[in-house]
Amino acid sequence: MANEKIILTGDRPTGRLHIGHFVGSLRRRVELQNEGDYKKMFVFIADAQALTDNIDNPEKVRQNVIEVALDYLACGLDPEKVTLFIQSQIPELCELSFYFMDLVSVSRLQRNPTVKTEIAMRGFESSIPVGFFTYPVSQAADIAAFRATTVPAGEDQRPMIEQATEIVRRFNHIYGETLVEPQIMLPENAACLRLPGTDGKAKMSKSLGNCIYLSETADEMRKKVMSMYTDPLHVNVSDPGHVEGNAVFTYLDAFCTDEHFDRYWKDYANLNELKEHYTRGGLGDVKCKRFLESILNETLEPIRQRRLEFQKDIPAIYDMLKRGCEDAREVAAATLDDVRRAMKINYFDDAELIAEQVKRFSGQ
Ligand code: TRP
Repeated sequence: MANEKIILTGDRPTGRLHIGHFVGSLRRRVELQNEGDYKKMFVFIADAQALTDNIDNPEKVRQNVIEVALDYLACGLDPEKVTLFIQSQIPELCELSFYFMDLVSVSRLQRNPTVKTEIAMRGFESSIPVGFFTYPVSQAADIAAFRATTVPAGEDQRPMIEQATEIVRRFNHIYGETLVEPQIMLPENAACLRLPGTDGKAKMSKSLGNCIYLSETADEMRKKVMSMYTDPLHVNVSDPGHVEGNAVFTYLDAFCTDEHFDRYWKDYANLNELKEHYTRGGLGDVKCKRFLESILNETLEPIRQRRLEFQKDIPAIYDMLKRGCEDAREVAAATLDDVRRAMKINYFDDAELIAEQVKRFSGQ
């Protein structure tokens, strides 16, 4: 059905957003927003979820709420078209999470591959915070409270959306059709699914220092691009090179279009031709890096400029978020009304229940 889509997605505020976020989801969100082919669109800052594995560093989360909001606005998310809000300000999400906890088993949570990896990464094996362990349940509540049909997110979020779908299905099975089963919307190509770090490592991560941030300057970015991991076997320009596992080419896969060749490198018509030359030998890394730098700058410069503009009026950003929270809360509250009604825990609005109890206690 046209225009029945409800889009929801969010990010943990644990750092500024980087180009992995951009190709993995942000770019798509802005397109979705501008296509307007949806009933509502929500994008939120998952501060409560961020706290589940930052118990020792709540200040980091607090500081990064505004960073993420600025990154959103800089990328072009428009509060007129999208409800931008902060997770912790919607108490209905806690309420729904509490009921959802009954619909999932500990062993099912333990099987969630994303949680498994994260537990290992954070050294939580011996002592997992309960809130962290159950965050997929809370994430299911985030999604269900807004009746999201569509969740644009990276590949790593697939197990979360699957778990949310199972929980919603179970809820509807027990209490009757009330909530909407969500679907993940993945990025269009493999390079965007999981953009590696500039060092070629699997993932961009602040602690590895291998991220290119949306908000960094052109100078900072140039240094990172010029020191990017390429092909260790490509020692001399004349050597044949490998594009697979070569971070420069993975980034080109994620960012480069044919028009970029027209603008910055007329020697080739498209990325395939460039890859062929590199593979054959005779093409140096520095040239490829310069090309990548031009493309990244073209993409990021407008984002940097918009961010600088938004940074000039920080109180306005908090005001915008506050309004977003108010709108979001109304929507979540309406869903929770339906949930309570379906669960028949809306005791005081339930005339039938009261009549039933009158009958029971009048000895008939
Ligand atoms: N888990 C997501 C992340 O790590 C953030 C998130 C929380 C989210 N709730 C969500 C994403 C609901 C999509 C839908 O970035």
